[in-house]
Amino acid sequence: MDPQRLIETAQALVARDRGLLAMDESTGTCNKRFAPLGIAQTPEARRAYRDMIVTTPQLGDSISGAILYDETIRQQTLAGVPFAQALEAAGIVPGIKVDKGTKPLAGHPGELVTEGLDGLRERLAEYVSMGARFAKWRAVITIGPGIPTRGCIEANAHALARYAATCQEAGLVPIVEPEVLMDGDHSLQRCADATAETLHEVFLQLRAQRVLLEGMLLKPNMVLPGLAAADQASVDAVADATVHGLLRNVPAAMPGIAFLSGGQSAQLASARLNAMNVRFRGRVPWALAFSYARALQQPALEAWRGEAANVPAAQQALRHRAECNRAARRGRYDADRDAASAKSDGDGVPTGRAPGAPRRG
Ligand code: 13P
Repeated sequence: MDPQRLIETAQALVARDRGLLAMDESTGTCNKRFAPLGIAQTPEARRAYRDMIVTTPQLGDSISGAILYDETIRQQTLAGVPFAQALEAAGIVPGIKVDKGTKPLAGHPGELVTEGLDGLRERLAEYVSMGARFAKWRAVITIGPGIPTRGCIEANAHALARYAATCQEAGLVPIVEPEVLMDGDHSLQRCADATAETLHEVFLQLRAQRVLLEGMLLKPNMVLPGLAAADQASVDAVADATVHGLLRNVPAAMPGIAFLSGGQSAQLASARLNAMNVRFRGRVPWALAFSYARALQQPALEAWRGEAANVPAAQQALRHRAECNRAARRGRYDADRDAASAKSDGDGVPTGRAPGAPRRG
């Protein structure tokens, strides 16, 4: 491992107000997103979709890194360029999801553990040879009656730390993603408690496994009430609860926090990130960035719908969301203008689905 290289890559991923694009949906998840739009659930359709994303003009102005899935890193763009190389050419660092998904955690009904440590060293070596420079592993923590348990939090934190150490050994920057899910009707406070306990344990385990904090990034959930909660918190309340929890539990040596979107709307994910950067500017030791999948991709996917003729509109929608989130990193996101642009770009596209290029000036 070359610590300096890890540090430089981690810093580059959160530099210049850019953020990460997660496009690492497993085949099953990608198919699930295609199905309601009537898009073919085939390797070629997934390749065409990811080609649309990666060839979006000026995407590298707002996106620093993109997380690929195993199938995609082995594929080529429609022009015949391996996806990892196409990203590099666009000024975007290629990364790779390396976990093997979740399984029920034995003895813990309703809880999950992420698998994929077996053979990880060998898989990482292959991904490095294909051009990956960072990696991602997602752990899932569920809130419900009597859960999350200590057993679930410890098992997932331990696996995250083992994964992170193995990545650094291979020269890959680990993105450590412990996701407390939004599913349920729990309060903001319950999410805050579960997130704090999870983050505390994750950093204990990272320390035990000798992970270089300067050479990794954290990808956490925002602190939010459950999607079905009657009391939905304000944008500012979410920003405050999220950053206060991070300040108590995340060491300052770590360069950046890149949030997942977790099922929030695209606009709310931008507004909440913006509020954090407005309210805590100069008061946090890390970059507050984004690593969204749905909140970046969904409007583009709905504009694309599997049709080559829709590629320009889909790319415009993706670029717009990327630019909105870059603006949010600077505390300059304008939610009203974003909503107006989503409405006014409705010609030919259902309202709110494919916002056009951001208004400037
Ligand atoms: P969402 O932003 O859709 O939550 O996805 C982020 C991610 O990478 C999930 O692992």
